[in-house]
Amino acid sequence: MKPKLFLTRKLPEKVMLELRDKFELKYNQKDRVLTKDEIITGVKWADILLCLLTDSIDAEIIAAGENLKGISNYAVGYNNIDVRAATEAGIPICNTPGVLTETTADMAWALMFAAARRVVEADNFTRKGKFKGWAPELFLGNDIFGKTLGIVGAGRIGQAVAKRARGFEMTILYTDQTSNQYLDEELGAKRVELDELLQNSDFVSLHVPLTPQTNHLITGKQLQKMKKTAILINTSRGAVIKEADLLQALQNGTLAAAGLDVFENEPKLEPGLIDCPKVVLTPHIASASRQTRTKMGLMAVKNAWQMWLGEKPENIVNPQVYN
Ligand code: DGY
Repeated sequence: MKPKLFLTRKLPEKVMLELRDKFELKYNQKDRVLTKDEIITGVKWADILLCLLTDSIDAEIIAAGENLKGISNYAVGYNNIDVRAATEAGIPICNTPGVLTETTADMAWALMFAAARRVVEADNFTRKGKFKGWAPELFLGNDIFGKTLGIVGAGRIGQAVAKRARGFEMTILYTDQTSNQYLDEELGAKRVELDELLQNSDFVSLHVPLTPQTNHLITGKQLQKMKKTAILINTSRGAVIKEADLLQALQNGTLAAAGLDVFENEPKLEPGLIDCPKVVLTPHIASASRQTRTKMGLMAVKNAWQMWLGEKPENIVNPQVYN
């Protein structure tokens, strides 16, 4: 008999095939986020839960999983899961690190370019038939080449973003708990405190996980420290920035522009944000390449399978459960 896996939303076809091969599968056939009650019903039935970052897996859901042997999150970030409750219940949790690093770094750069060179505004202008010919001051933006890039959080994705800056001959500053040999030696980067990074960077890109310590890491106070010409990019988690403060900073000229792929109260946006031309907005798609979403799915299936077998998976978030 195959183990029972409950999947909260349909994944790419190759992943579905793999899931059907290994598990007795029940999944959400509606193209929407499930309600808490719907997840509880699934979890009561399942041996393994495969969930998404849009599912808030709280203590109540975890407690409902009488036979639950593991939670496989289809994301590298796992702030959507009550890790403590799962750990107390002896339930392992896995995530999908590594496979989305380069794709997410590409997106941080896409936002950097779009915000610096006003690509979205200029596209809208051109489509509306407003382009009447070349003009000396039409859509002036900011240079990227030769500027200073500040990486907040030098994990896998932060490093991949920094690596791309080499081609643009940028000075790289970063914050992290410890020095990063690759960044220091290969890229000549400098580890600094957050304030120094904010004061000296032309571009600041956020790459920290969302934890109680990083929640609202960037508020009006930090934005005040940035250069007026600076551009802030966020592909990590929305709540790392206090969105209302960012909007205010953009509106009053404290900051030149921003590129956001993630939002504090996703999918809701801070009122006024969509009317602000200084921000480029994308709907949490930094890992959304066809190849990467499939790789994430296959990794999530492998994690699920290992948890079912009782093997300690490589991508375990709470290894204490195996002690
Ligand atoms: C993640 O994996 O945490 C991203 O936000 C979505 O791929």
